[in-house]
Amino acid sequence: MGDRLHAMTDDLANILAPDLLAESEVALDTTLRPRSMDEYIGQREVKANLDTLLAAARNRGEAADHILLYGPPGLGKTTLATIVARELGVNIRYTSGPAVERAGDLAAILTALDERDVLFIDEIHRLNRAVEEILYPAMEDYALDVMIGKGPSARSLRLSLKPFTVVGATTRAGRISSPLRDRFGATYRLDFYEDDDLTAIVERSARILDVPVDAAAARAIAGRGRGTPRIVNRLLKRVRDHAEVNGNGRVDEATANEAMARMEIDREGLDSTDRKLLAAIIQKFQSGPVGVAALAAVLAEEIETIEDVYEPFLLRLGFLDRTPQGRIATDLARAHMASLGYEIPPPRRGDPDMVGLWDPPPPADPS
Ligand code: ADE
Repeated sequence: MGDRLHAMTDDLANILAPDLLAESEVALDTTLRPRSMDEYIGQREVKANLDTLLAAARNRGEAADHILLYGPPGLGKTTLATIVARELGVNIRYTSGPAVERAGDLAAILTALDERDVLFIDEIHRLNRAVEEILYPAMEDYALDVMIGKGPSARSLRLSLKPFTVVGATTRAGRISSPLRDRFGATYRLDFYEDDDLTAIVERSARILDVPVDAAAARAIAGRGRGTPRIVNRLLKRVRDHAEVNGNGRVDEATANEAMARMEIDREGLDSTDRKLLAAIIQKFQSGPVGVAALAAVLAEEIETIEDVYEPFLLRLGFLDRTPQGRIATDLARAHMASLGYEIPPPRRGDPDMVGLWDPPPPADPS
């Protein structure tokens, strides 16, 4: 029986694997990504916890427990997953919630994994229900439940999988269903990076790219990088372009600031979309409260993009407050926008007659 089951597993993998490979390949900017825990800068607590988890799994010769990483985009979730696989000495397969459309797609991926491999699932909160249900027994018992036949004669057959590790990534832990969340043995939150860590990342990337960046320039770039390695690396590349085209190729603080001013990145690291968002709250909604749906409509952005990409950093800067009635632009945000020359009408929240123009409160977010 065991042999027959393995043969079926292999067949399933062969039939379904080829068209899945291309579809779920993730484009990685491999040159700047750290490849080991030692190279990885920042997120000290997450690293320390992961180090222990990986060392224990290695010592026992077992697959590591499933790991859920959550936090705003660009903070290194994919990078960490890649490092996890490397440190375990196994292969990693990349896919994402939206890429896995049918239960059979996931079955094909799972059956193609080797013992102790890592399966990285980005945007894991976007897996559909049928796919998620395949994942539960796979994660819990390394079992694949396959339905054979249709109607009254349908029956379920349980195939065994080799032990493996799911590394799931999501922008918010609260976005994934609780049965899925419960199947992760370890959950780590990635937070925005400290300025010192970001500066070290800029310096490391500059060395790899062979760009002469002085210490003050590295700090200036880090200071406008929204706590996010992906953003500082992007800024560094654009600053390098500016220095090469308009200067002598060397990046000092003035060159860096000039390049970032041309990109319309202000001294807090806000770009034109952040400012549009704040301007909309301040000017169109008298500083709020305003619901995210109304904001999304005014800015022609997806609600999820506003919530996941723009709001987290504005919240961290103290420029935005989330209240049950909606978003509020704080006095800090109003002062910042005033200093940039924006017109700042009086806030509505001081007006006792104000009536709600608001959406329902946002759902509670345990993350
Ligand atoms: N490049 C991008 N993220 C990094 C990190 N956390 N450490 C080092 N280099 C990086």
